[in-house]
Amino acid sequence: MKRGDRLRFTVDNLAFGGDAVGRAADGRAVFVGGAAPGDTVEAEIDEVKPKFARARLRLVVSPGAERVAARCPLVAECGGCQWQEVSITAQRAAKQVIVERALGRLGATIGPLATPCPDFGYRTRARFTVGENAIGYQSRRSHAVVDVASCPLLDPALDAALATAREFFRSVLPRGASLAGLVGSEGAVHLAVDGGPRSLADRATELIGRSGIVGIVLDGNHRLGASDVDTSDPGEPAFFGAADGFAQASASGNRLLRQLVREAIPVAAQNILELHAGDGNFSRDLAAGGRALRAIEGDAAAVGRLRKNVPAAEARCEPVERAAARLAGAGERFDLVLLDPPRAGARPILPSLARMTDRIVYISCDPMTLQRDAAELAALGFTVDEARGIDLMPHTYHVEVVARFSRRTKEAGSS
Ligand SMILES: C[S@@+](CC[C@H](N)C(=O)[O-])C[C@H]1O[C@@H](n2cnc3c(N)ncnc32)[C@H](O)[C@@H]1O
Repeated sequence: MKRGDRLRFTVDNLAFGGDAVGRAADGRAVFVGGAAPGDTVEAEIDEVKPKFARARLRLVVSPGAERVAARCPLVAECGGCQWQEVSITAQRAAKQVIVERALGRLGATIGPLATPCPDFGYRTRARFTVGENAIGYQSRRSHAVVDVASCPLLDPALDAALATAREFFRSVLPRGASLAGLVGSEGAVHLAVDGGPRSLADRATELIGRSGIVGIVLDGNHRLGASDVDTSDPGEPAFFGAADGFAQASASGNRLLRQLVREAIPVAAQNILELHAGDGNFSRDLAAGGRALRAIEGDAAAVGRLRKNVPAAEARCEPVERAAARLAGAGERFDLVLLDPPRAGARPILPSLARMTDRIVYISCDPMTLQRDAAELAALGFTVDEARGIDLMPHTYHVEVVARFSRRTKEAGSS
């Protein structure tokens, strides 16, 4: 097999990262984007490795049972989602297998994938990039930007606000700039623009009040109008987020994620350490009922919102690496440590965590780095007791995992 060869094969499943996978006649796995399980495809080989190859879809010779019509006309070119032409059932089955492969070997009980989001209109936060005459998501196949006039995955209020903002900024923002939006529970939208010209502050104010836009932050420091939006669930105290900060991708998904976190807090846990706390999304539940919570977050603006959102938490702006070493060095102990790292995971801090607690709840947006970190925790004397995937982003390959770890007892460790 060599680059440029055209192969015909049937797709078996879907891989983390978004590609579909089939097998070439020589047994090598072939990764190809845009295909669905059961499809027979013709694909052109782009890259050959000893155990696998990457190919470009040229033709769907015969569609499989899991292929469905996409709602979005940009599906062939836009990299915003990967699996819109795959049935939601097959997407979910693939995500469950991804979680099982990541943690099953360590003996974890893997719960069924939770599916809290509607298939479309669920995204309450999005970030577009500015390209050549285009504002949207990166292309599936190149670094070019695809012009996205509307995205069916977005909450309609966010979609409308981003459409207005795109037109407003189209002739103003240079290539490489970005435009992000976060919609609150009442449909109010907060925008963040990075990389625009200095003169933008005077003009951007005109956008406030249009299509639900209540505030804009420029380059993370110049705030126009409202500085945040309330993203709380009905009946809950206000909870403020901003388009230049982190928020989970969907409100309904986050509601379930928070519920799983609440269920993972042992009754006896009274003294908790939270790392990667963001605006305090989980802090509000962790600090409930009078529990003592120390919350660590590296982004100063997020810590400002955390203090406003969860006054009961002892919030500190500090890199988690430094905080973990400092607390472990001081001999601190916690009934529970919860961490929610970015994709890169949390490997460097795990030895410090192991010195401070017997219970860890790890929230991961990347099963591959979670797998690596779970193996490290196993080497540090922990068992992964239970894990559950959550489909927070239908039509993409992303899957969130909540995993609970506890220190192995001596008997279990020696068996
Ligand atoms: C996946 S987000 C989770 C935020 C929050 N738990 C939530 O649910 O909204 C990860 C957070 O970790 C923070 N972060 C990333 N690396 C960090 C580091 N080395 N030290 C401290 N905070 C960090 C980011 O600023 C971000 O707020």
